[in-house]
Amino acid sequence: MRRPLVMGNWKMNGSLSANARWVEAFSAPSLAKVEVAIAPPAPYLGQLVPLLRAKQVQVAAQDVSEQQLDGAYTGQWHGGMLKDIGCQYAIVGHSERREYQGETDALVAAKAVAALAAGVTPVVCVGETLSEREQGDTLAVIERQLAAVLAVAEAGKIVVAYEPVWAIGTGKTATPEQAQTVHAAIRKQLGESGAVAKVLYGGSVKAANADDLFRQPDIDGALVGGAALDSQEFGKICESAARAKG
Ligand code: PGA
Repeated sequence: MRRPLVMGNWKMNGSLSANARWVEAFSAPSLAKVEVAIAPPAPYLGQLVPLLRAKQVQVAAQDVSEQQLDGAYTGQWHGGMLKDIGCQYAIVGHSERREYQGETDALVAAKAVAALAAGVTPVVCVGETLSEREQGDTLAVIERQLAAVLAVAEAGKIVVAYEPVWAIGTGKTATPEQAQTVHAAIRKQLGESGAVAKVLYGGSVKAANADDLFRQPDIDGALVGGAALDSQEFGKICESAARAKG
């Protein structure tokens, strides 16, 4: 049985005071049934690791270097540093980084490897753009993005997040059926490890659509952007996962 995981990605939002208020107001009573994690902006990891840990919430970084050791790489941090401060996860290959930082499939794969080497679980984001979907290329794009990672990283040790680019921050969610179709394909590509590896859905997840998404057999949780900035809304999504999968 795969325990559901609901991860909030705060992207570039927050402040010391807003973060503290969020944690104070957050309560997800069913934490035994669902794993919860938050990915804050890097400058706030030090603040949030102890605060979130006290609420049994795991901490994720929004990115990690492909480099594995200390060195002259301004603006980067390696997985060992994340491990050192108590991060369990690192998001890699988010579509916003692929788009704005020009991250390639090869770089994303190297980041996944570097995270694993440090004992940090990479949350590998894959997803098609609207034009790729309209051209019927969805499954081919996902397969290519994931294959780059699976060529170098152990399938059973990663978390995959399917995030259709057209659904991120747009209010347009993939229908549960659309998501399930892609999730089933991803699970198949994960091979034997598909039985244990978690596959999350991301893209305009909110409390109002979470139940239907989590009812799909191959959706093991969610990567939540906008709705994770509101601790009450995020708590409801966590409860929804616990209900659907518990
Ligand atoms: P969204 O973002 O929930 O705001 O659509 C999801 C994500 O980018 O992880």
